[in-house]
Amino acid sequence: MKTLILYRSYYGNTKQVAEAIAQQINTLGHQSSIQDIRLRFPDLQGVDAIIVGAPTRMGRVTRKAKSVLRHLKRKGHTDKPVAVFDTIAILPSTPEEMEKVKKWFSPGAVGIMQNVARDQGLNLFSETLRCEVTGMKGPLAENAIGKAIAFATAFISFAQRR
Ligand SMILES: Cc1cc2nc3c(=O)[nH]c(=O)nc-3n(C[C@H](O)[C@H](O)[C@H](O)COP(=O)(O)O)c2cc1C
Repeated sequence: MKTLILYRSYYGNTKQVAEAIAQQINTLGHQSSIQDIRLRFPDLQGVDAIIVGAPTRMGRVTRKAKSVLRHLKRKGHTDKPVAVFDTIAILPSTPEEMEKVKKWFSPGAVGIMQNVARDQGLNLFSETLRCEVTGMKGPLAENAIGKAIAFATAFISFAQRR
């Protein structure tokens, strides 16, 4: 199984998560490639599954991430397994604090991408990955790579179940 991971990263954190996912997919005996989402959309001949990742910034996601998901529908790739992930600031530790700042996290890049993927009728993996970054520019929180590895493993199981 070959998985393409498309990512947007300003400071390298989302790219690091994309790389960890790719590495885990390879470790599981599959193939993967990663590409900056801003580059020309690659030929999906031979690509079995797609993962799209981007940071949440100002509560939003880069337009390009949404257009890539719409492109999958336009090109008839509605049967290929798709998953989305984002990177975010450190989540508040209490529900009260979360309530105050939730517009910056929820739905966030990951929720927006999921909604677009659902609207397009894509074969969306229901689990999502959100990796926290410390400060605005990173580095990634300590548990981020572990979460990325678990997510990659779960996604591959989903993709193989079709
Ligand atoms: C201008 C700006 C706005 C941001 N807005 C949010 C936000 O609304 N919610 C959030 O969780 N993180 C926010 N962040 C933190 C980003 O999520 C973080 O910079 C990003 O995940 C880092 O990933 P990257 O290195 O791949 O760009 C913001 C960061 C910047 C620089």
